[in-house]
Amino acid sequence: MGKMAAVVGSVASLVTEPGEDAFRKLFRFYRQSRPGTTDLGGVIDFSTAHAARGTGPSAHKVVRSQLSVSSVSEHDAHRAGLQPVSKWRAYGLEGYPGYQWHWVKQCLKLYSQKPNVCNLDKHMTKEETQDLWEQSKEFLRYKEVNKRRPRSLLEKLRWVTLGYHYNWDSKKYSADHYTPFPSDLAFLSEQVAAACGFQGFQAEAGILNYYRLDSTLGIHVDRSELDHSKPLLSFSFGQSAIFLLGGLKRDEAPTAMFMHSGDIMVMSGFSRLLNHAVPRVLPHPEGEGLPHCLETPLPGVLPRDSLVEPCSVEDWQVCASYLKTARVNMTIRQVLATDQDFPLEPVEEKKRDITIEGSCHLDDQNSQVKRARLHPNS
Ligand code: OGA
Ligand code: MN
Repeated sequence: MGKMAAVVGSVASLVTEPGEDAFRKLFRFYRQSRPGTTDLGGVIDFSTAHAARGTGPSAHKVVRSQLSVSSVSEHDAHRAGLQPVSKWRAYGLEGYPGYQWHWVKQCLKLYSQKPNVCNLDKHMTKEETQDLWEQSKEFLRYKEVNKRRPRSLLEKLRWVTLGYHYNWDSKKYSADHYTPFPSDLAFLSEQVAAACGFQGFQAEAGILNYYRLDSTLGIHVDRSELDHSKPLLSFSFGQSAIFLLGGLKRDEAPTAMFMHSGDIMVMSGFSRLLNHAVPRVLPHPEGEGLPHCLETPLPGVLPRDSLVEPCSVEDWQVCASYLKTARVNMTIRQVLATDQDFPLEPVEEKKRDITIEGSCHLDDQNSQVKRARLHPNS
């Protein structure tokens, strides 16, 4: 590493702007980061956590917490496409590598379909957004050959909502905007939640985020769910990202950590309402395409009652091409307490709530207008 590069890319060299909070400072630092020239030594890497323990600057932050593995049977773990329970680690549960493609394929091919809601619905008709996969697959399969083609619809997809559809304007979920939650994803979520001590977790809402290499997710707290005693599960696939986990207030400096393909983040208890953000999706190193865990499309033996199905080579080619420059993240939420109903809302309350911070849309570097509108504070 050259001296200049080291100076340019160190956290200490970043000047705080007047009135800027610690979270935003680090957000800016990682947003402009370039692997090789930026000091990523402060980013916790769960994939090398045992090796790094006690060595790196943030290594002391990584602790292994107990999982109640007896709550999940080996068979159910296998059905959900997860590793044997004994291999799960609490600081970064790694999905069974051979099955990550299932969830990627569902996010691109199935969950993006109606009646689920997506960002494209705002400017397009139901017919036009009916089958994003069908309309995009040929484009994606020949992506390398024709780099200067227009973007396919799948590449314009930024988010999809499932179950109780999150309303980005009111920052609320409501009883009258619900469609059935995908059963395979609900089952996966229940297994992971149970292993973390949350028996009876109900997957009621999902936000799927589709990141390009220049996308960021602004600093936010997920507080729109009505029962914060239930965890929020977050599954990541494709290219790695830097995830920032802050405090209850924005003035607390966040901890940076890598989120690799197959990592599952569980935000529960105290961490359920912490500020967080994704300032950077990292391009894969030169010469490497997909992370190794995504390389094998076809699994060995699937149990008879498996929820994951075999993926055709054709389908995988589309997913693999897409993922070379993308990251897909699924966040799964229980909205209501067990047996709770949505409260009846007095009409005037609706206007008042707009200042509460909830989830925010993905933000692309090349859309300044959108940035100004969606992230007035970042
Ligand atoms: C979210 C979220 C994090 C991620 O959707 O609320 O925080 O890693 N996602 O994409
Ligand atoms: Mn969030």
